Amino acid sequence: MSYEYIITSTDGRVGIVQFNRPKALNALNRELMAELMAALDVFDADDDIGCMVITGNEKAFAAGADIKEMANAAPVDMLDNPFIDYWDRLRRIGKPVVAAVSGFALGGGCELAMACDMIIASETARFGQPEINLGIIPGAGGTQRMTLAVGKALAMEMVLNGRFLTAAEALQHGLINRVVPTELYLAEAIKFAAEIAARAPVALRLGKEAVNAVYEMPLQAGLAHERRLFYMLFSTEDQKEGMDAFINKRKPEWQGK
Ligand code: CAA
Repeated sequence: MSYEYIITSTDGRVGIVQFNRPKALNALNRELMAELMAALDVFDADDDIGCMVITGNEKAFAAGADIKEMANAAPVDMLDNPFIDYWDRLRRIGKPVVAAVSGFALGGGCELAMACDMIIASETARFGQPEINLGIIPGAGGTQRMTLAVGKALAMEMVLNGRFLTAAEALQHGLINRVVPTELYLAEAIKFAAEIAARAPVALRLGKEAVNAVYEMPLQAGLAHERRLFYMLFSTEDQKEGMDAFINKRKPEWQGK
């Protein structure tokens, strides 16, 4: 499939989507988001892909939703328009998704990174929800995900006063997984994703689902859900293979079933 606003590639079992709107600092317009989701759906359905990486360029992961596209929107346009739903659709991708972030991850760009499962950042990454400067608030999960990640005090500063987090601060507050030198950020994210992609595919999907259930369910329901997923994995060949490989001191060979 050919795309205008993204570039897709693969590296072993890792599917990579790179935003390609550098002049607009990868501002997320409707077409870009549609292409992103189409590409992720293709990778999600491909048995040869185990994990995905979403990235931008060194200067910007994405500087937010496209302000020029939104500027004259009426509420009913926003309601009728599935644009913001794309961020929710990212949650429904079954395989793990890693955001490789350098430079600006602002507004909808920060929300997109947070909707991924893990974030690898360059030293120059900056995370922020500056919507207050536009007279609005985050609309694609920023008030919720940021607060769950970094806590109320800092989230309030970010949402109400447009405070940015450096990569080091984002790491310290648990928003991201690791910070790496800028020139290596994409290679490190792909390496990280490749390690994950080599693991048992069904367990990866269910592990992701179980962790994400924390955001959707009270503890008792989440624990019950985890237990059911745990039991379900005992119906897979990979569970038999993984335990047999451990007992016989050999490397497991995953079948993804
Ligand atoms: N939408 C549309 N265009 C954008 C953009 C955005 N979010 N961010 C940057 N651009 C464009 C600029 O308009 C500019 O285009 P022109 O050359 O045609 O003028 C180009 O990208 C380069 O930007 P700057 O000249 O501003 O670059 P800079 O290095 O001086 O500043 C910046 C960088 C601080 C990131 C600044 O561009 C900026 O503040 N951008 C907006 C960030 C923002 O407010 N994001 C939130 C958007 S709203 C949202 O995302 C809602 C939501 O929750 C879904």
